[in-house]
Amino acid sequence: MTEFKNKLINDFPEYLFNEINTMKVAARQKGRDIIDLGYGNPDLPSHPLVVEKLIEAAQLKKNHKYSVSKGIFGLRKAVSDKYRRIYNVHLDPNKNIVNTIGSKEGLTHLLLSVLDVGDNIVVQNPSYPIHHYAPLIARANTIKIDSINTDNFLIKLEKELKNSFIKAVLVSFPHNPTTSTVTQDFYDKLVELANKYEFLIINDFAYSDVYFENQVPPSLLTSDPELKYSVELYSLTKGYSMAGWRVGFAIGNESAINSLTKLKSYIDYGTFQPIQIASTVALNELDEFPKELSQVYQERREIIVTTLTELDFIVQESKATMFVWAKLPEKFSDSYEFSKKLLDEANVAVSPGVGFGTAGEGYIRLALVENKHRIRQAMKNLIKFFDSNV
Ligand SMILES: Cc1ncc(COP(=O)(O)O)c(C=O)c1O
Repeated sequence: MTEFKNKLINDFPEYLFNEINTMKVAARQKGRDIIDLGYGNPDLPSHPLVVEKLIEAAQLKKNHKYSVSKGIFGLRKAVSDKYRRIYNVHLDPNKNIVNTIGSKEGLTHLLLSVLDVGDNIVVQNPSYPIHHYAPLIARANTIKIDSINTDNFLIKLEKELKNSFIKAVLVSFPHNPTTSTVTQDFYDKLVELANKYEFLIINDFAYSDVYFENQVPPSLLTSDPELKYSVELYSLTKGYSMAGWRVGFAIGNESAINSLTKLKSYIDYGTFQPIQIASTVALNELDEFPKELSQVYQERREIIVTTLTELDFIVQESKATMFVWAKLPEKFSDSYEFSKKLLDEANVAVSPGVGFGTAGEGYIRLALVENKHRIRQAMKNLIKFFDSNV
């Protein structure tokens, strides 16, 4: 067979989670009941009002045409209204916001539109896989900063800034996989550094709406009201349980948003208009819904944290995200082997920390995407697993 392969993509390693996933599927085919805390795919349905609006809008012929690549005005206005309500940030829907196909696509094309070949970009290690790969797709050079602990992230960053010219810094808080959060002060300092060294800050804000006990995660944009250095990726995926709808936004610095909008105008015609209309309703009318979903995640989280702590895991404390991030007890160090063994012997799928970067080795991530009953069952299985393995 004649092969048609791009060297870059060909050289990408096999997605580490694929092997665990293949094992999970094989086990299920054999009739084993696998409790899946591996894949961060929300199990909670989207709000009925949004679904109804989608159906209604889909029945109108005028909505069947190509939509606007950067998103209909009403949707971008709904984002700017939400940012004013929640973060006290003032955005021009025409200049500072572009609709993307989720934050993942948004990030990838954003980097393609703002970086040149060989530019340096700082990325957190560990991080969500596309944070490692989007820079490679843009043929940029990544500088990875260990951020298992974010306390000294800014100190490490400044060292890198002194050493080389850095075009962009990509962060993400609340963070996947570590669940760590930052205060507004962190962003204030990051913007100060951007002022000094002139780089673009990108915050992947995918978990902005998944938080507990009223601890609203701050927005980067609040620290940069003139939007001189900042772009934030916002998404309805997690907060509104709309993963399959693919609705995200790049928001912030006008020139970066322009560049992305221009690139996207060549590549796509925008999201199906009924999806955009229904998403507008979510943003305008359902501020409480993400809080209800978050409450469910918090209750699930507590069950897991209790058991893991009893089993001598060190669990990262957090008031946000839909994950638990935990350091394995001393007896185990290889997160990949541990995850495979756990699936094999306890019928529980988790994500090995190393899948998010070298700094994630020794940790596992559990996604809170099964109901409480099944999570309790998973924890019983885990206790049995430890009884026979320690
Ligand atoms: C940090 C982070 N960014 C982006 C995404 C993808 O979000 P979206 O569905 O908006 O593309 C995820 C999903 O797990 C994520 O964890």
